[in-house]
Amino acid sequence: MSKNTENQPNTKLAVVVMAAGKGTRLRTRRPKVLHEVGGKALLSHVIATASRLAENEDIYVVIGHEAERVRKAVGGTGVQFVEQKHQRGTGHAIQCAGAAIAKYDHILVLSGDVPLVSTETLSHLMTMHLAQGAAMSILSALPENPFGYGRVIRSSPDRSEVDAIVEQKALKQEQLKIGEINSGIYAFKTQPLLAHISRLSSDNPHGEFYLTDMAAHLKAAGEKVVALQAADAEEIQGGNTIAELMAMDAKIRLATTSRLMAAGVSIFRPETCVIDADVEVEADTIIEPFVQLLGKTKIGTDGHIRSYSVIENCTLGNDVLIRQGCVLADSTVADGARIGPFAHLRPGSEIGQDAHVGNFVETKKAKLGKGAKANHLTYLGDAEVGAGSNIGAGVITCNYDGVNKHQTRIGQGAFVGSDSTLVAPVAIGDGAYVGAGSCITKDVPSGALAVGRARQIMKEGWVSARRARREEKND
Ligand code: UD1
Ligand code: CA
Repeated sequence: MSKNTENQPNTKLAVVVMAAGKGTRLRTRRPKVLHEVGGKALLSHVIATASRLAENEDIYVVIGHEAERVRKAVGGTGVQFVEQKHQRGTGHAIQCAGAAIAKYDHILVLSGDVPLVSTETLSHLMTMHLAQGAAMSILSALPENPFGYGRVIRSSPDRSEVDAIVEQKALKQEQLKIGEINSGIYAFKTQPLLAHISRLSSDNPHGEFYLTDMAAHLKAAGEKVVALQAADAEEIQGGNTIAELMAMDAKIRLATTSRLMAAGVSIFRPETCVIDADVEVEADTIIEPFVQLLGKTKIGTDGHIRSYSVIENCTLGNDVLIRQGCVLADSTVADGARIGPFAHLRPGSEIGQDAHVGNFVETKKAKLGKGAKANHLTYLGDAEVGAGSNIGAGVITCNYDGVNKHQTRIGQGAFVGSDSTLVAPVAIGDGAYVGAGSCITKDVPSGALAVGRARQIMKEGWVSARRARREEKND
């Protein structure tokens, strides 16, 4: 279904995401909805799904536990927030949203800890809800193991309507075998929901106001309550323990590697790779075992990412080789460049076409031109290296004077000899040479040779003379 129930132009829909709970069963300080699976917070997954069904200004997130932290984490999306100061249950969460949702005809309630539900499944739920004229439509499922979930009770002979939802702890002996579970996702007609929500009581094993009890209350008020079974029970899995979250994470990442492989990317031993959901890789690129591709990383075609490299928020062009054990963050690498092994591209590195960054080279806010080379043991920070320049082994840009950072500018086709230190701010002109072991503190003009090192002294025969002196002493 497209935004605002396109097939029912007069129907206004809000999405309410319940995200105020503490997540006691996780035993962590971090609020449950900010735990990450597939490289993204649970709540961010849910908001992304909700955004495909409603405008962000019609999405209301109920926050409570660590409210400010949650608000900060997802505030950039433009969703609305409702505060539930004391977390007295899912029913109470919706009561807190009462004023905000009163102007909408229907609400879709999502749980902030059920991140895998698909837009298609939610569309089916809304379509059925509207078609049946139901006051409450529950998304249910038949998982292999229903233990721990609320169960959907259907007692009429044709089982077409729902009489109640009963939580695990309150199940009677004969209800224990019921396999249809409540996903924690519902569509409600707003008017009957708000008319009867004050009927909720906290007289239950948890002392909470359960939204699930609305099924029985609405039924008793003569309203229609139905449930739609999700085709895939895995979609509605909740993450209540770390083990459940990690299982979910593995599932999301395998789905990502499957998507990339279907698009022509070779991923060897995909179960060993950690690839975030938003990563894009073009066909004919090879990814070796134990690679991590994180955040908004984009990789072009014909690339080769070798084992143990971790690449976060980077854009790599076509035919890029990242050798083993490289760490790249917030950087760009142009077509044909060669990186590593064991190179570290820190944020703001821009590696030009066909450039080489070799082993044990660290770059930060460094721009390397086309074909530039820094192949061994080098630090390039706050630096520009022109096209075709060669940076020898062990060269260091001394960019920090203890207070401020300064720039090093190296022109095109320059040659900086091994073990030179370039004390910034300093510039080396086009085609200039710097002798090995130099400490460069003054600008080097184009085409010049700069040598900034102590002169070598030579003492002919010194070794044998010393040996002779020693032997004399020992006699
Ligand atoms: C809930 C359902 C259960 C269902 C399961 C599916 C109830 C009473 N039970 O149980 O039938 O099978 O989801 O996953 O609803 N929340 C608030 N405010 C609160 C309490 C919770 O916003 O006061 C939020 C939580 O942050 C969470 C969601 O509501 O995102 C669900 O709460 P949770 O405590 O996880 O409910 P479950 O025990 O999983
Ligand atoms: Ca839950």
